[in-house]
Amino acid sequence: MQLSATVLASFLVVAGLAATAAGLRFEATNNATTTPGGQRFDREYGVGLAVQVLSEASCFVWKVFNQTSPADRRPAVDDRVKFVVNFVNTNILAFERDSESSITLNAGYVNNITGDVRTLVTGLLYHEVTHVWQWGQQDTSSAHSWIYEGIADFVRLRAGYAAPYWLQPGQGSSWDTGYDVTARFLDYCDELRPGFVAVLNVRLKDSYRDDYFVEIMGKPVQELWKDYKAKYGG
Ligand SMILES: *[C@@H]1O[C@H](CO)[C@@H](O)[C@H](O)[C@H]1NC(C)=O
Ligand SMILES: *[C@@H]1O[C@H](CO)[C@@H](O)[C@H](O)[C@H]1NC(C)=O
Ligand SMILES: *[C@@H]1O[C@H](CO)[C@@H](O)[C@H](O)[C@H]1NC(C)=O
Repeated sequence: MQLSATVLASFLVVAGLAATAAGLRFEATNNATTTPGGQRFDREYGVGLAVQVLSEASCFVWKVFNQTSPADRRPAVDDRVKFVVNFVNTNILAFERDSESSITLNAGYVNNITGDVRTLVTGLLYHEVTHVWQWGQQDTSSAHSWIYEGIADFVRLRAGYAAPYWLQPGQGSSWDTGYDVTARFLDYCDELRPGFVAVLNVRLKDSYRDDYFVEIMGKPVQELWKDYKAKYGG
């Protein structure tokens, strides 16, 4: 199901690119080619690579979620996953708009990257595409957005794209901090009980409850967090 970059290159049009895999259409557009970040995106990443990574990352998410059958997966809106590079005048790096299965990468962030653009943008794409496929996203504006952000970074971590600026395992003050802190805690839980995050993801169809940790892991989340902190010396 992986798309070959060489094949994709032949479809390349000026700024946009699309490919179909598994009945899904992956589309990428650079809508910021007049900005320094958009130009850097074209030089150091490109829409062809974005389409390839979105497709590969989607397969990776389904594997982590143990969704071997397409019937188990959350559908994308119109069976399309859209990606656009835009200049957004905020500090946000990237975001997913759930109502349209679309991902926006901030050209302003690309311009600011001091490390390797390929690794950092690929990591962000793994995170954002997880939002497209995970259950429970209707909940994101609520108090539980941390669990969805934690799962998205957990997938990024498992794919080998933990960012250099992340906190280390055992760091952080609470399991519900979200992002890297929650991701590393979920990683600990998933090592204790392989498939934990896949099961948790299904439960999240009915929104989040702390009880899921007891039900799946056999221990309250507070105790698991204490065990996790103790493993890394408190
Ligand atoms: C492209 O950028 C223009 C102007 O910055 C904006 O109005 C438009 O919504 C953008 N298109 C997409 C698909 O994001
Ligand atoms: C990029 O850096 C500039 C200058 O430090 C800053 O004002 C801007 O908010 C940053 N943009 C992003 C998306 O991080
Ligand atoms: C994955 O799902 C299958 C059923 O679809 C189940 O038998 C298997 O135990 C699951 N794997 C994990 C690691 O939970």
